[in-house]
Amino acid sequence: MEPAARLSLLKPSPIRILSEGAPPTAIPLGLGEPTWDMPEAARRALMASSGPCPYGPNFGLPELRDAVARFHGATRDEVLITCGSEGALFSLFLAFLNPGDDILVPDPYFPAYTSLAHLAGAEALTYPLDAGDRFRLKAGPVLAALEAHPHVKAVLVNAPSNPTGGATTAAHLKAIAQACEAKGVMLISDEVYLDLHYGTRPPSLRDVSKYGLVITSVSKGWGAAGLRVGWILGDPAWLGPARTVHGYAVTGAAHPAQRAALALLEDSERIFVAARHEIRVRWEALAAALKTHLGQDITPPDGAFYHWMELPETAVADPMAFCLRLRDEGGVVLVPGATFGEQGKRFARLSFAASPAQITEGVRRMAPFWKA
Ligand SMILES: Cc1ncc(COP(=O)(O)O)c(C=O)c1O
Repeated sequence: MEPAARLSLLKPSPIRILSEGAPPTAIPLGLGEPTWDMPEAARRALMASSGPCPYGPNFGLPELRDAVARFHGATRDEVLITCGSEGALFSLFLAFLNPGDDILVPDPYFPAYTSLAHLAGAEALTYPLDAGDRFRLKAGPVLAALEAHPHVKAVLVNAPSNPTGGATTAAHLKAIAQACEAKGVMLISDEVYLDLHYGTRPPSLRDVSKYGLVITSVSKGWGAAGLRVGWILGDPAWLGPARTVHGYAVTGAAHPAQRAALALLEDSERIFVAARHEIRVRWEALAAALKTHLGQDITPPDGAFYHWMELPETAVADPMAFCLRLRDEGGVVLVPGATFGEQGKRFARLSFAASPAQITEGVRRMAPFWKA
């Protein structure tokens, strides 16, 4: 039987293809997930679970919604708990994008943005991140894209970015929020990496405007990707339709996972300090290995745990073939930058969420491919 027509533009994620097809001895620098231990607070909450294991309300556990609201300086009715920020994106795209609608997303982008737009029958148009300034988000290109495409339904921003780690400033974010509000365009700010930074914390949309929606999860900064708990924060009028989609898709995030997420939120500051130490140690291992094996000097990204690395000239014609050779002959998994859009064609994404020892060994294995 043929799959539904809505799947015609959807391909399996190259990130998953490269990672799941890797030989068991390959060093995993492909997936973007924390490899340090899940914080103790969540572990204890999971162990303490007893009695029935109920569905819970579609909007999420009231205690968790309150904790999320406190974290962001909001109120309970502004919070919808989802299965990760992926569940948040899915619900918002399906709830608000009609076939034929356009949504603006950054280039480079997290691949789910374009795939979920296609699933909704919509088109993802891109605005460029600033390649001349470490792919930081600037208001100018977003405003220009809004002028060029006046019927755009929504704008998505993601800073710090997957795949580049580039963030933004409060002034740029505010200008984007004001433009979206003036045009009545939905603004979605994907902030899953906000608390994983190397210097000062980048701005949240919530710091500069009450307009728009923030989505995030416990997957990155709180080090618990497998819990699959995230949320949407913003105007209750926008949460209602998203809740309907999310409820029919999955009912809600798992009850024990929501309890664990609550414990994480209550211990946020301590957890973030420890997580920032973990990524700093990994970044230092990466910087030292790149210096030793390739003579490269790097500076930390604004946030997240990705190194956006220029490909060797010989790899640019077919980056996927290069990454497959790197994986199968070199024993290290990297993701071709083209997976993340036009501006990624000359790059590969190296996730340094792996352990420091894996990073050191991975770069040693990669080096001959860059020198060849
Ligand atoms: C930018 C960005 N948004 C959303 C997600 C989805 O993460 P989760 O569903 O675990 O919150 C990811 C995962 O890598 C991501 O990088």
